[in-house]
Amino acid sequence: MRIISIVGARPQFIKLAALSARLSEKHEEIIVHTGQHYDYAMSEKIFSDLGIRNPDYHMGIGSGTHAAQTGAMMKAIEEVIINRKPGLVVIFGDTNTTLAGAMAASKINIPLVHVEAGLRSYNRNMPEEINRIVADHVSDYLFAPTETAEGILKGEGLSDKTYLTGDIMVDTLSNYLPVALEKSKITRELEVEGREFNLLTLHRNYNVDNPEVLVNILDQLDLLGELIIFPVHPRTRKMIVQTDLSWKNISLVEPLGYIDFIAAQHYSKRIITDSGGIQKEAFILGRPCITLRTETEWVETVDTGWNLLVDPRGSNIGDMIMSFRVPGSQENVFGEEVSSKMAAIIDSI
Ligand code: UD1
Repeated sequence: MRIISIVGARPQFIKLAALSARLSEKHEEIIVHTGQHYDYAMSEKIFSDLGIRNPDYHMGIGSGTHAAQTGAMMKAIEEVIINRKPGLVVIFGDTNTTLAGAMAASKINIPLVHVEAGLRSYNRNMPEEINRIVADHVSDYLFAPTETAEGILKGEGLSDKTYLTGDIMVDTLSNYLPVALEKSKITRELEVEGREFNLLTLHRNYNVDNPEVLVNILDQLDLLGELIIFPVHPRTRKMIVQTDLSWKNISLVEPLGYIDFIAAQHYSKRIITDSGGIQKEAFILGRPCITLRTETEWVETVDTGWNLLVDPRGSNIGDMIMSFRVPGSQENVFGEEVSSKMAAIIDSI
């Protein structure tokens, strides 16, 4: 079967890596990159770290308002679908690229797989929440990463299309962690070898687009008095540059490649983030995670005591972080051998 996989933003490359390796065994896979992420560190570097071949189509769409970005992607994706006539289209996660792929494929009736279906934050201020809801409801095969996600899809009347596969990021992480621990020199490069450090990431619109919230977070984290390594997303960098401030204990660095980032997570003392994927990776790597959000889609990480939600607008961020303790053990909530399960379903379509 001819399959078109559509990606565009960093977390999608990470999800594609594990699945693509399986799909290309039995199918003709066409990789489409919308160009939503275009900085070297956010795109090419991740492709090369993960050994993903060059995309067959690179649309170079780049930044824009939601409608302008999504609309341009839809138009370009539709053209590829019409020309290449795939038997199946695969979309990942919840970005504007996901939404564009979902709309373009479903409207011309091409069977559609949504990887990482059934996530809900119930916060409509997140563009991702709208993207997920639409993607789930127009897709034909919903690959749910967790039992919670499976339950949500069933609750929305999508039982017939739902498959509990586990989370594809488990496979990427287990494939690349040994390589990262052997090859990455990131702790030496950041001069944190043998030292305790926190790892921070921030990119959510509601945390970084409003300078008051962003500065509140960074001021309070600085007061922890502990070293914090902060690979800065381009969206966040733009705001920080505008504030013209700096923080004593926070070391701002460029976004890391995948291999270096998972090594940095492994060696960190705790992870502070507003990312979805990093909450999962922290859990799988057994690192305490502080999520600077008031809700999460990954409720299992909170319910099992490994992830703490902290209000980014609050005044007690430091106290909450310092008093957070994780349990001694954890259960497997994200599954295993996930790409094989997904590939088996796709093979039978
Ligand atoms: C996007 C996704 C989010 C995902 C995140 C991972 C949407 C709505 N959001 O957020 O779900 O968790 O990716 O990183 O799709 N920019 C650059 N260089 C880049 C990429 C972006 O400078 O390589 C700038 C753009 O100019 C833009 C801003 O960052 O103004 C935001 O980029 P965008 O792709 O819209 O959203 P992200 O914040 O990356």
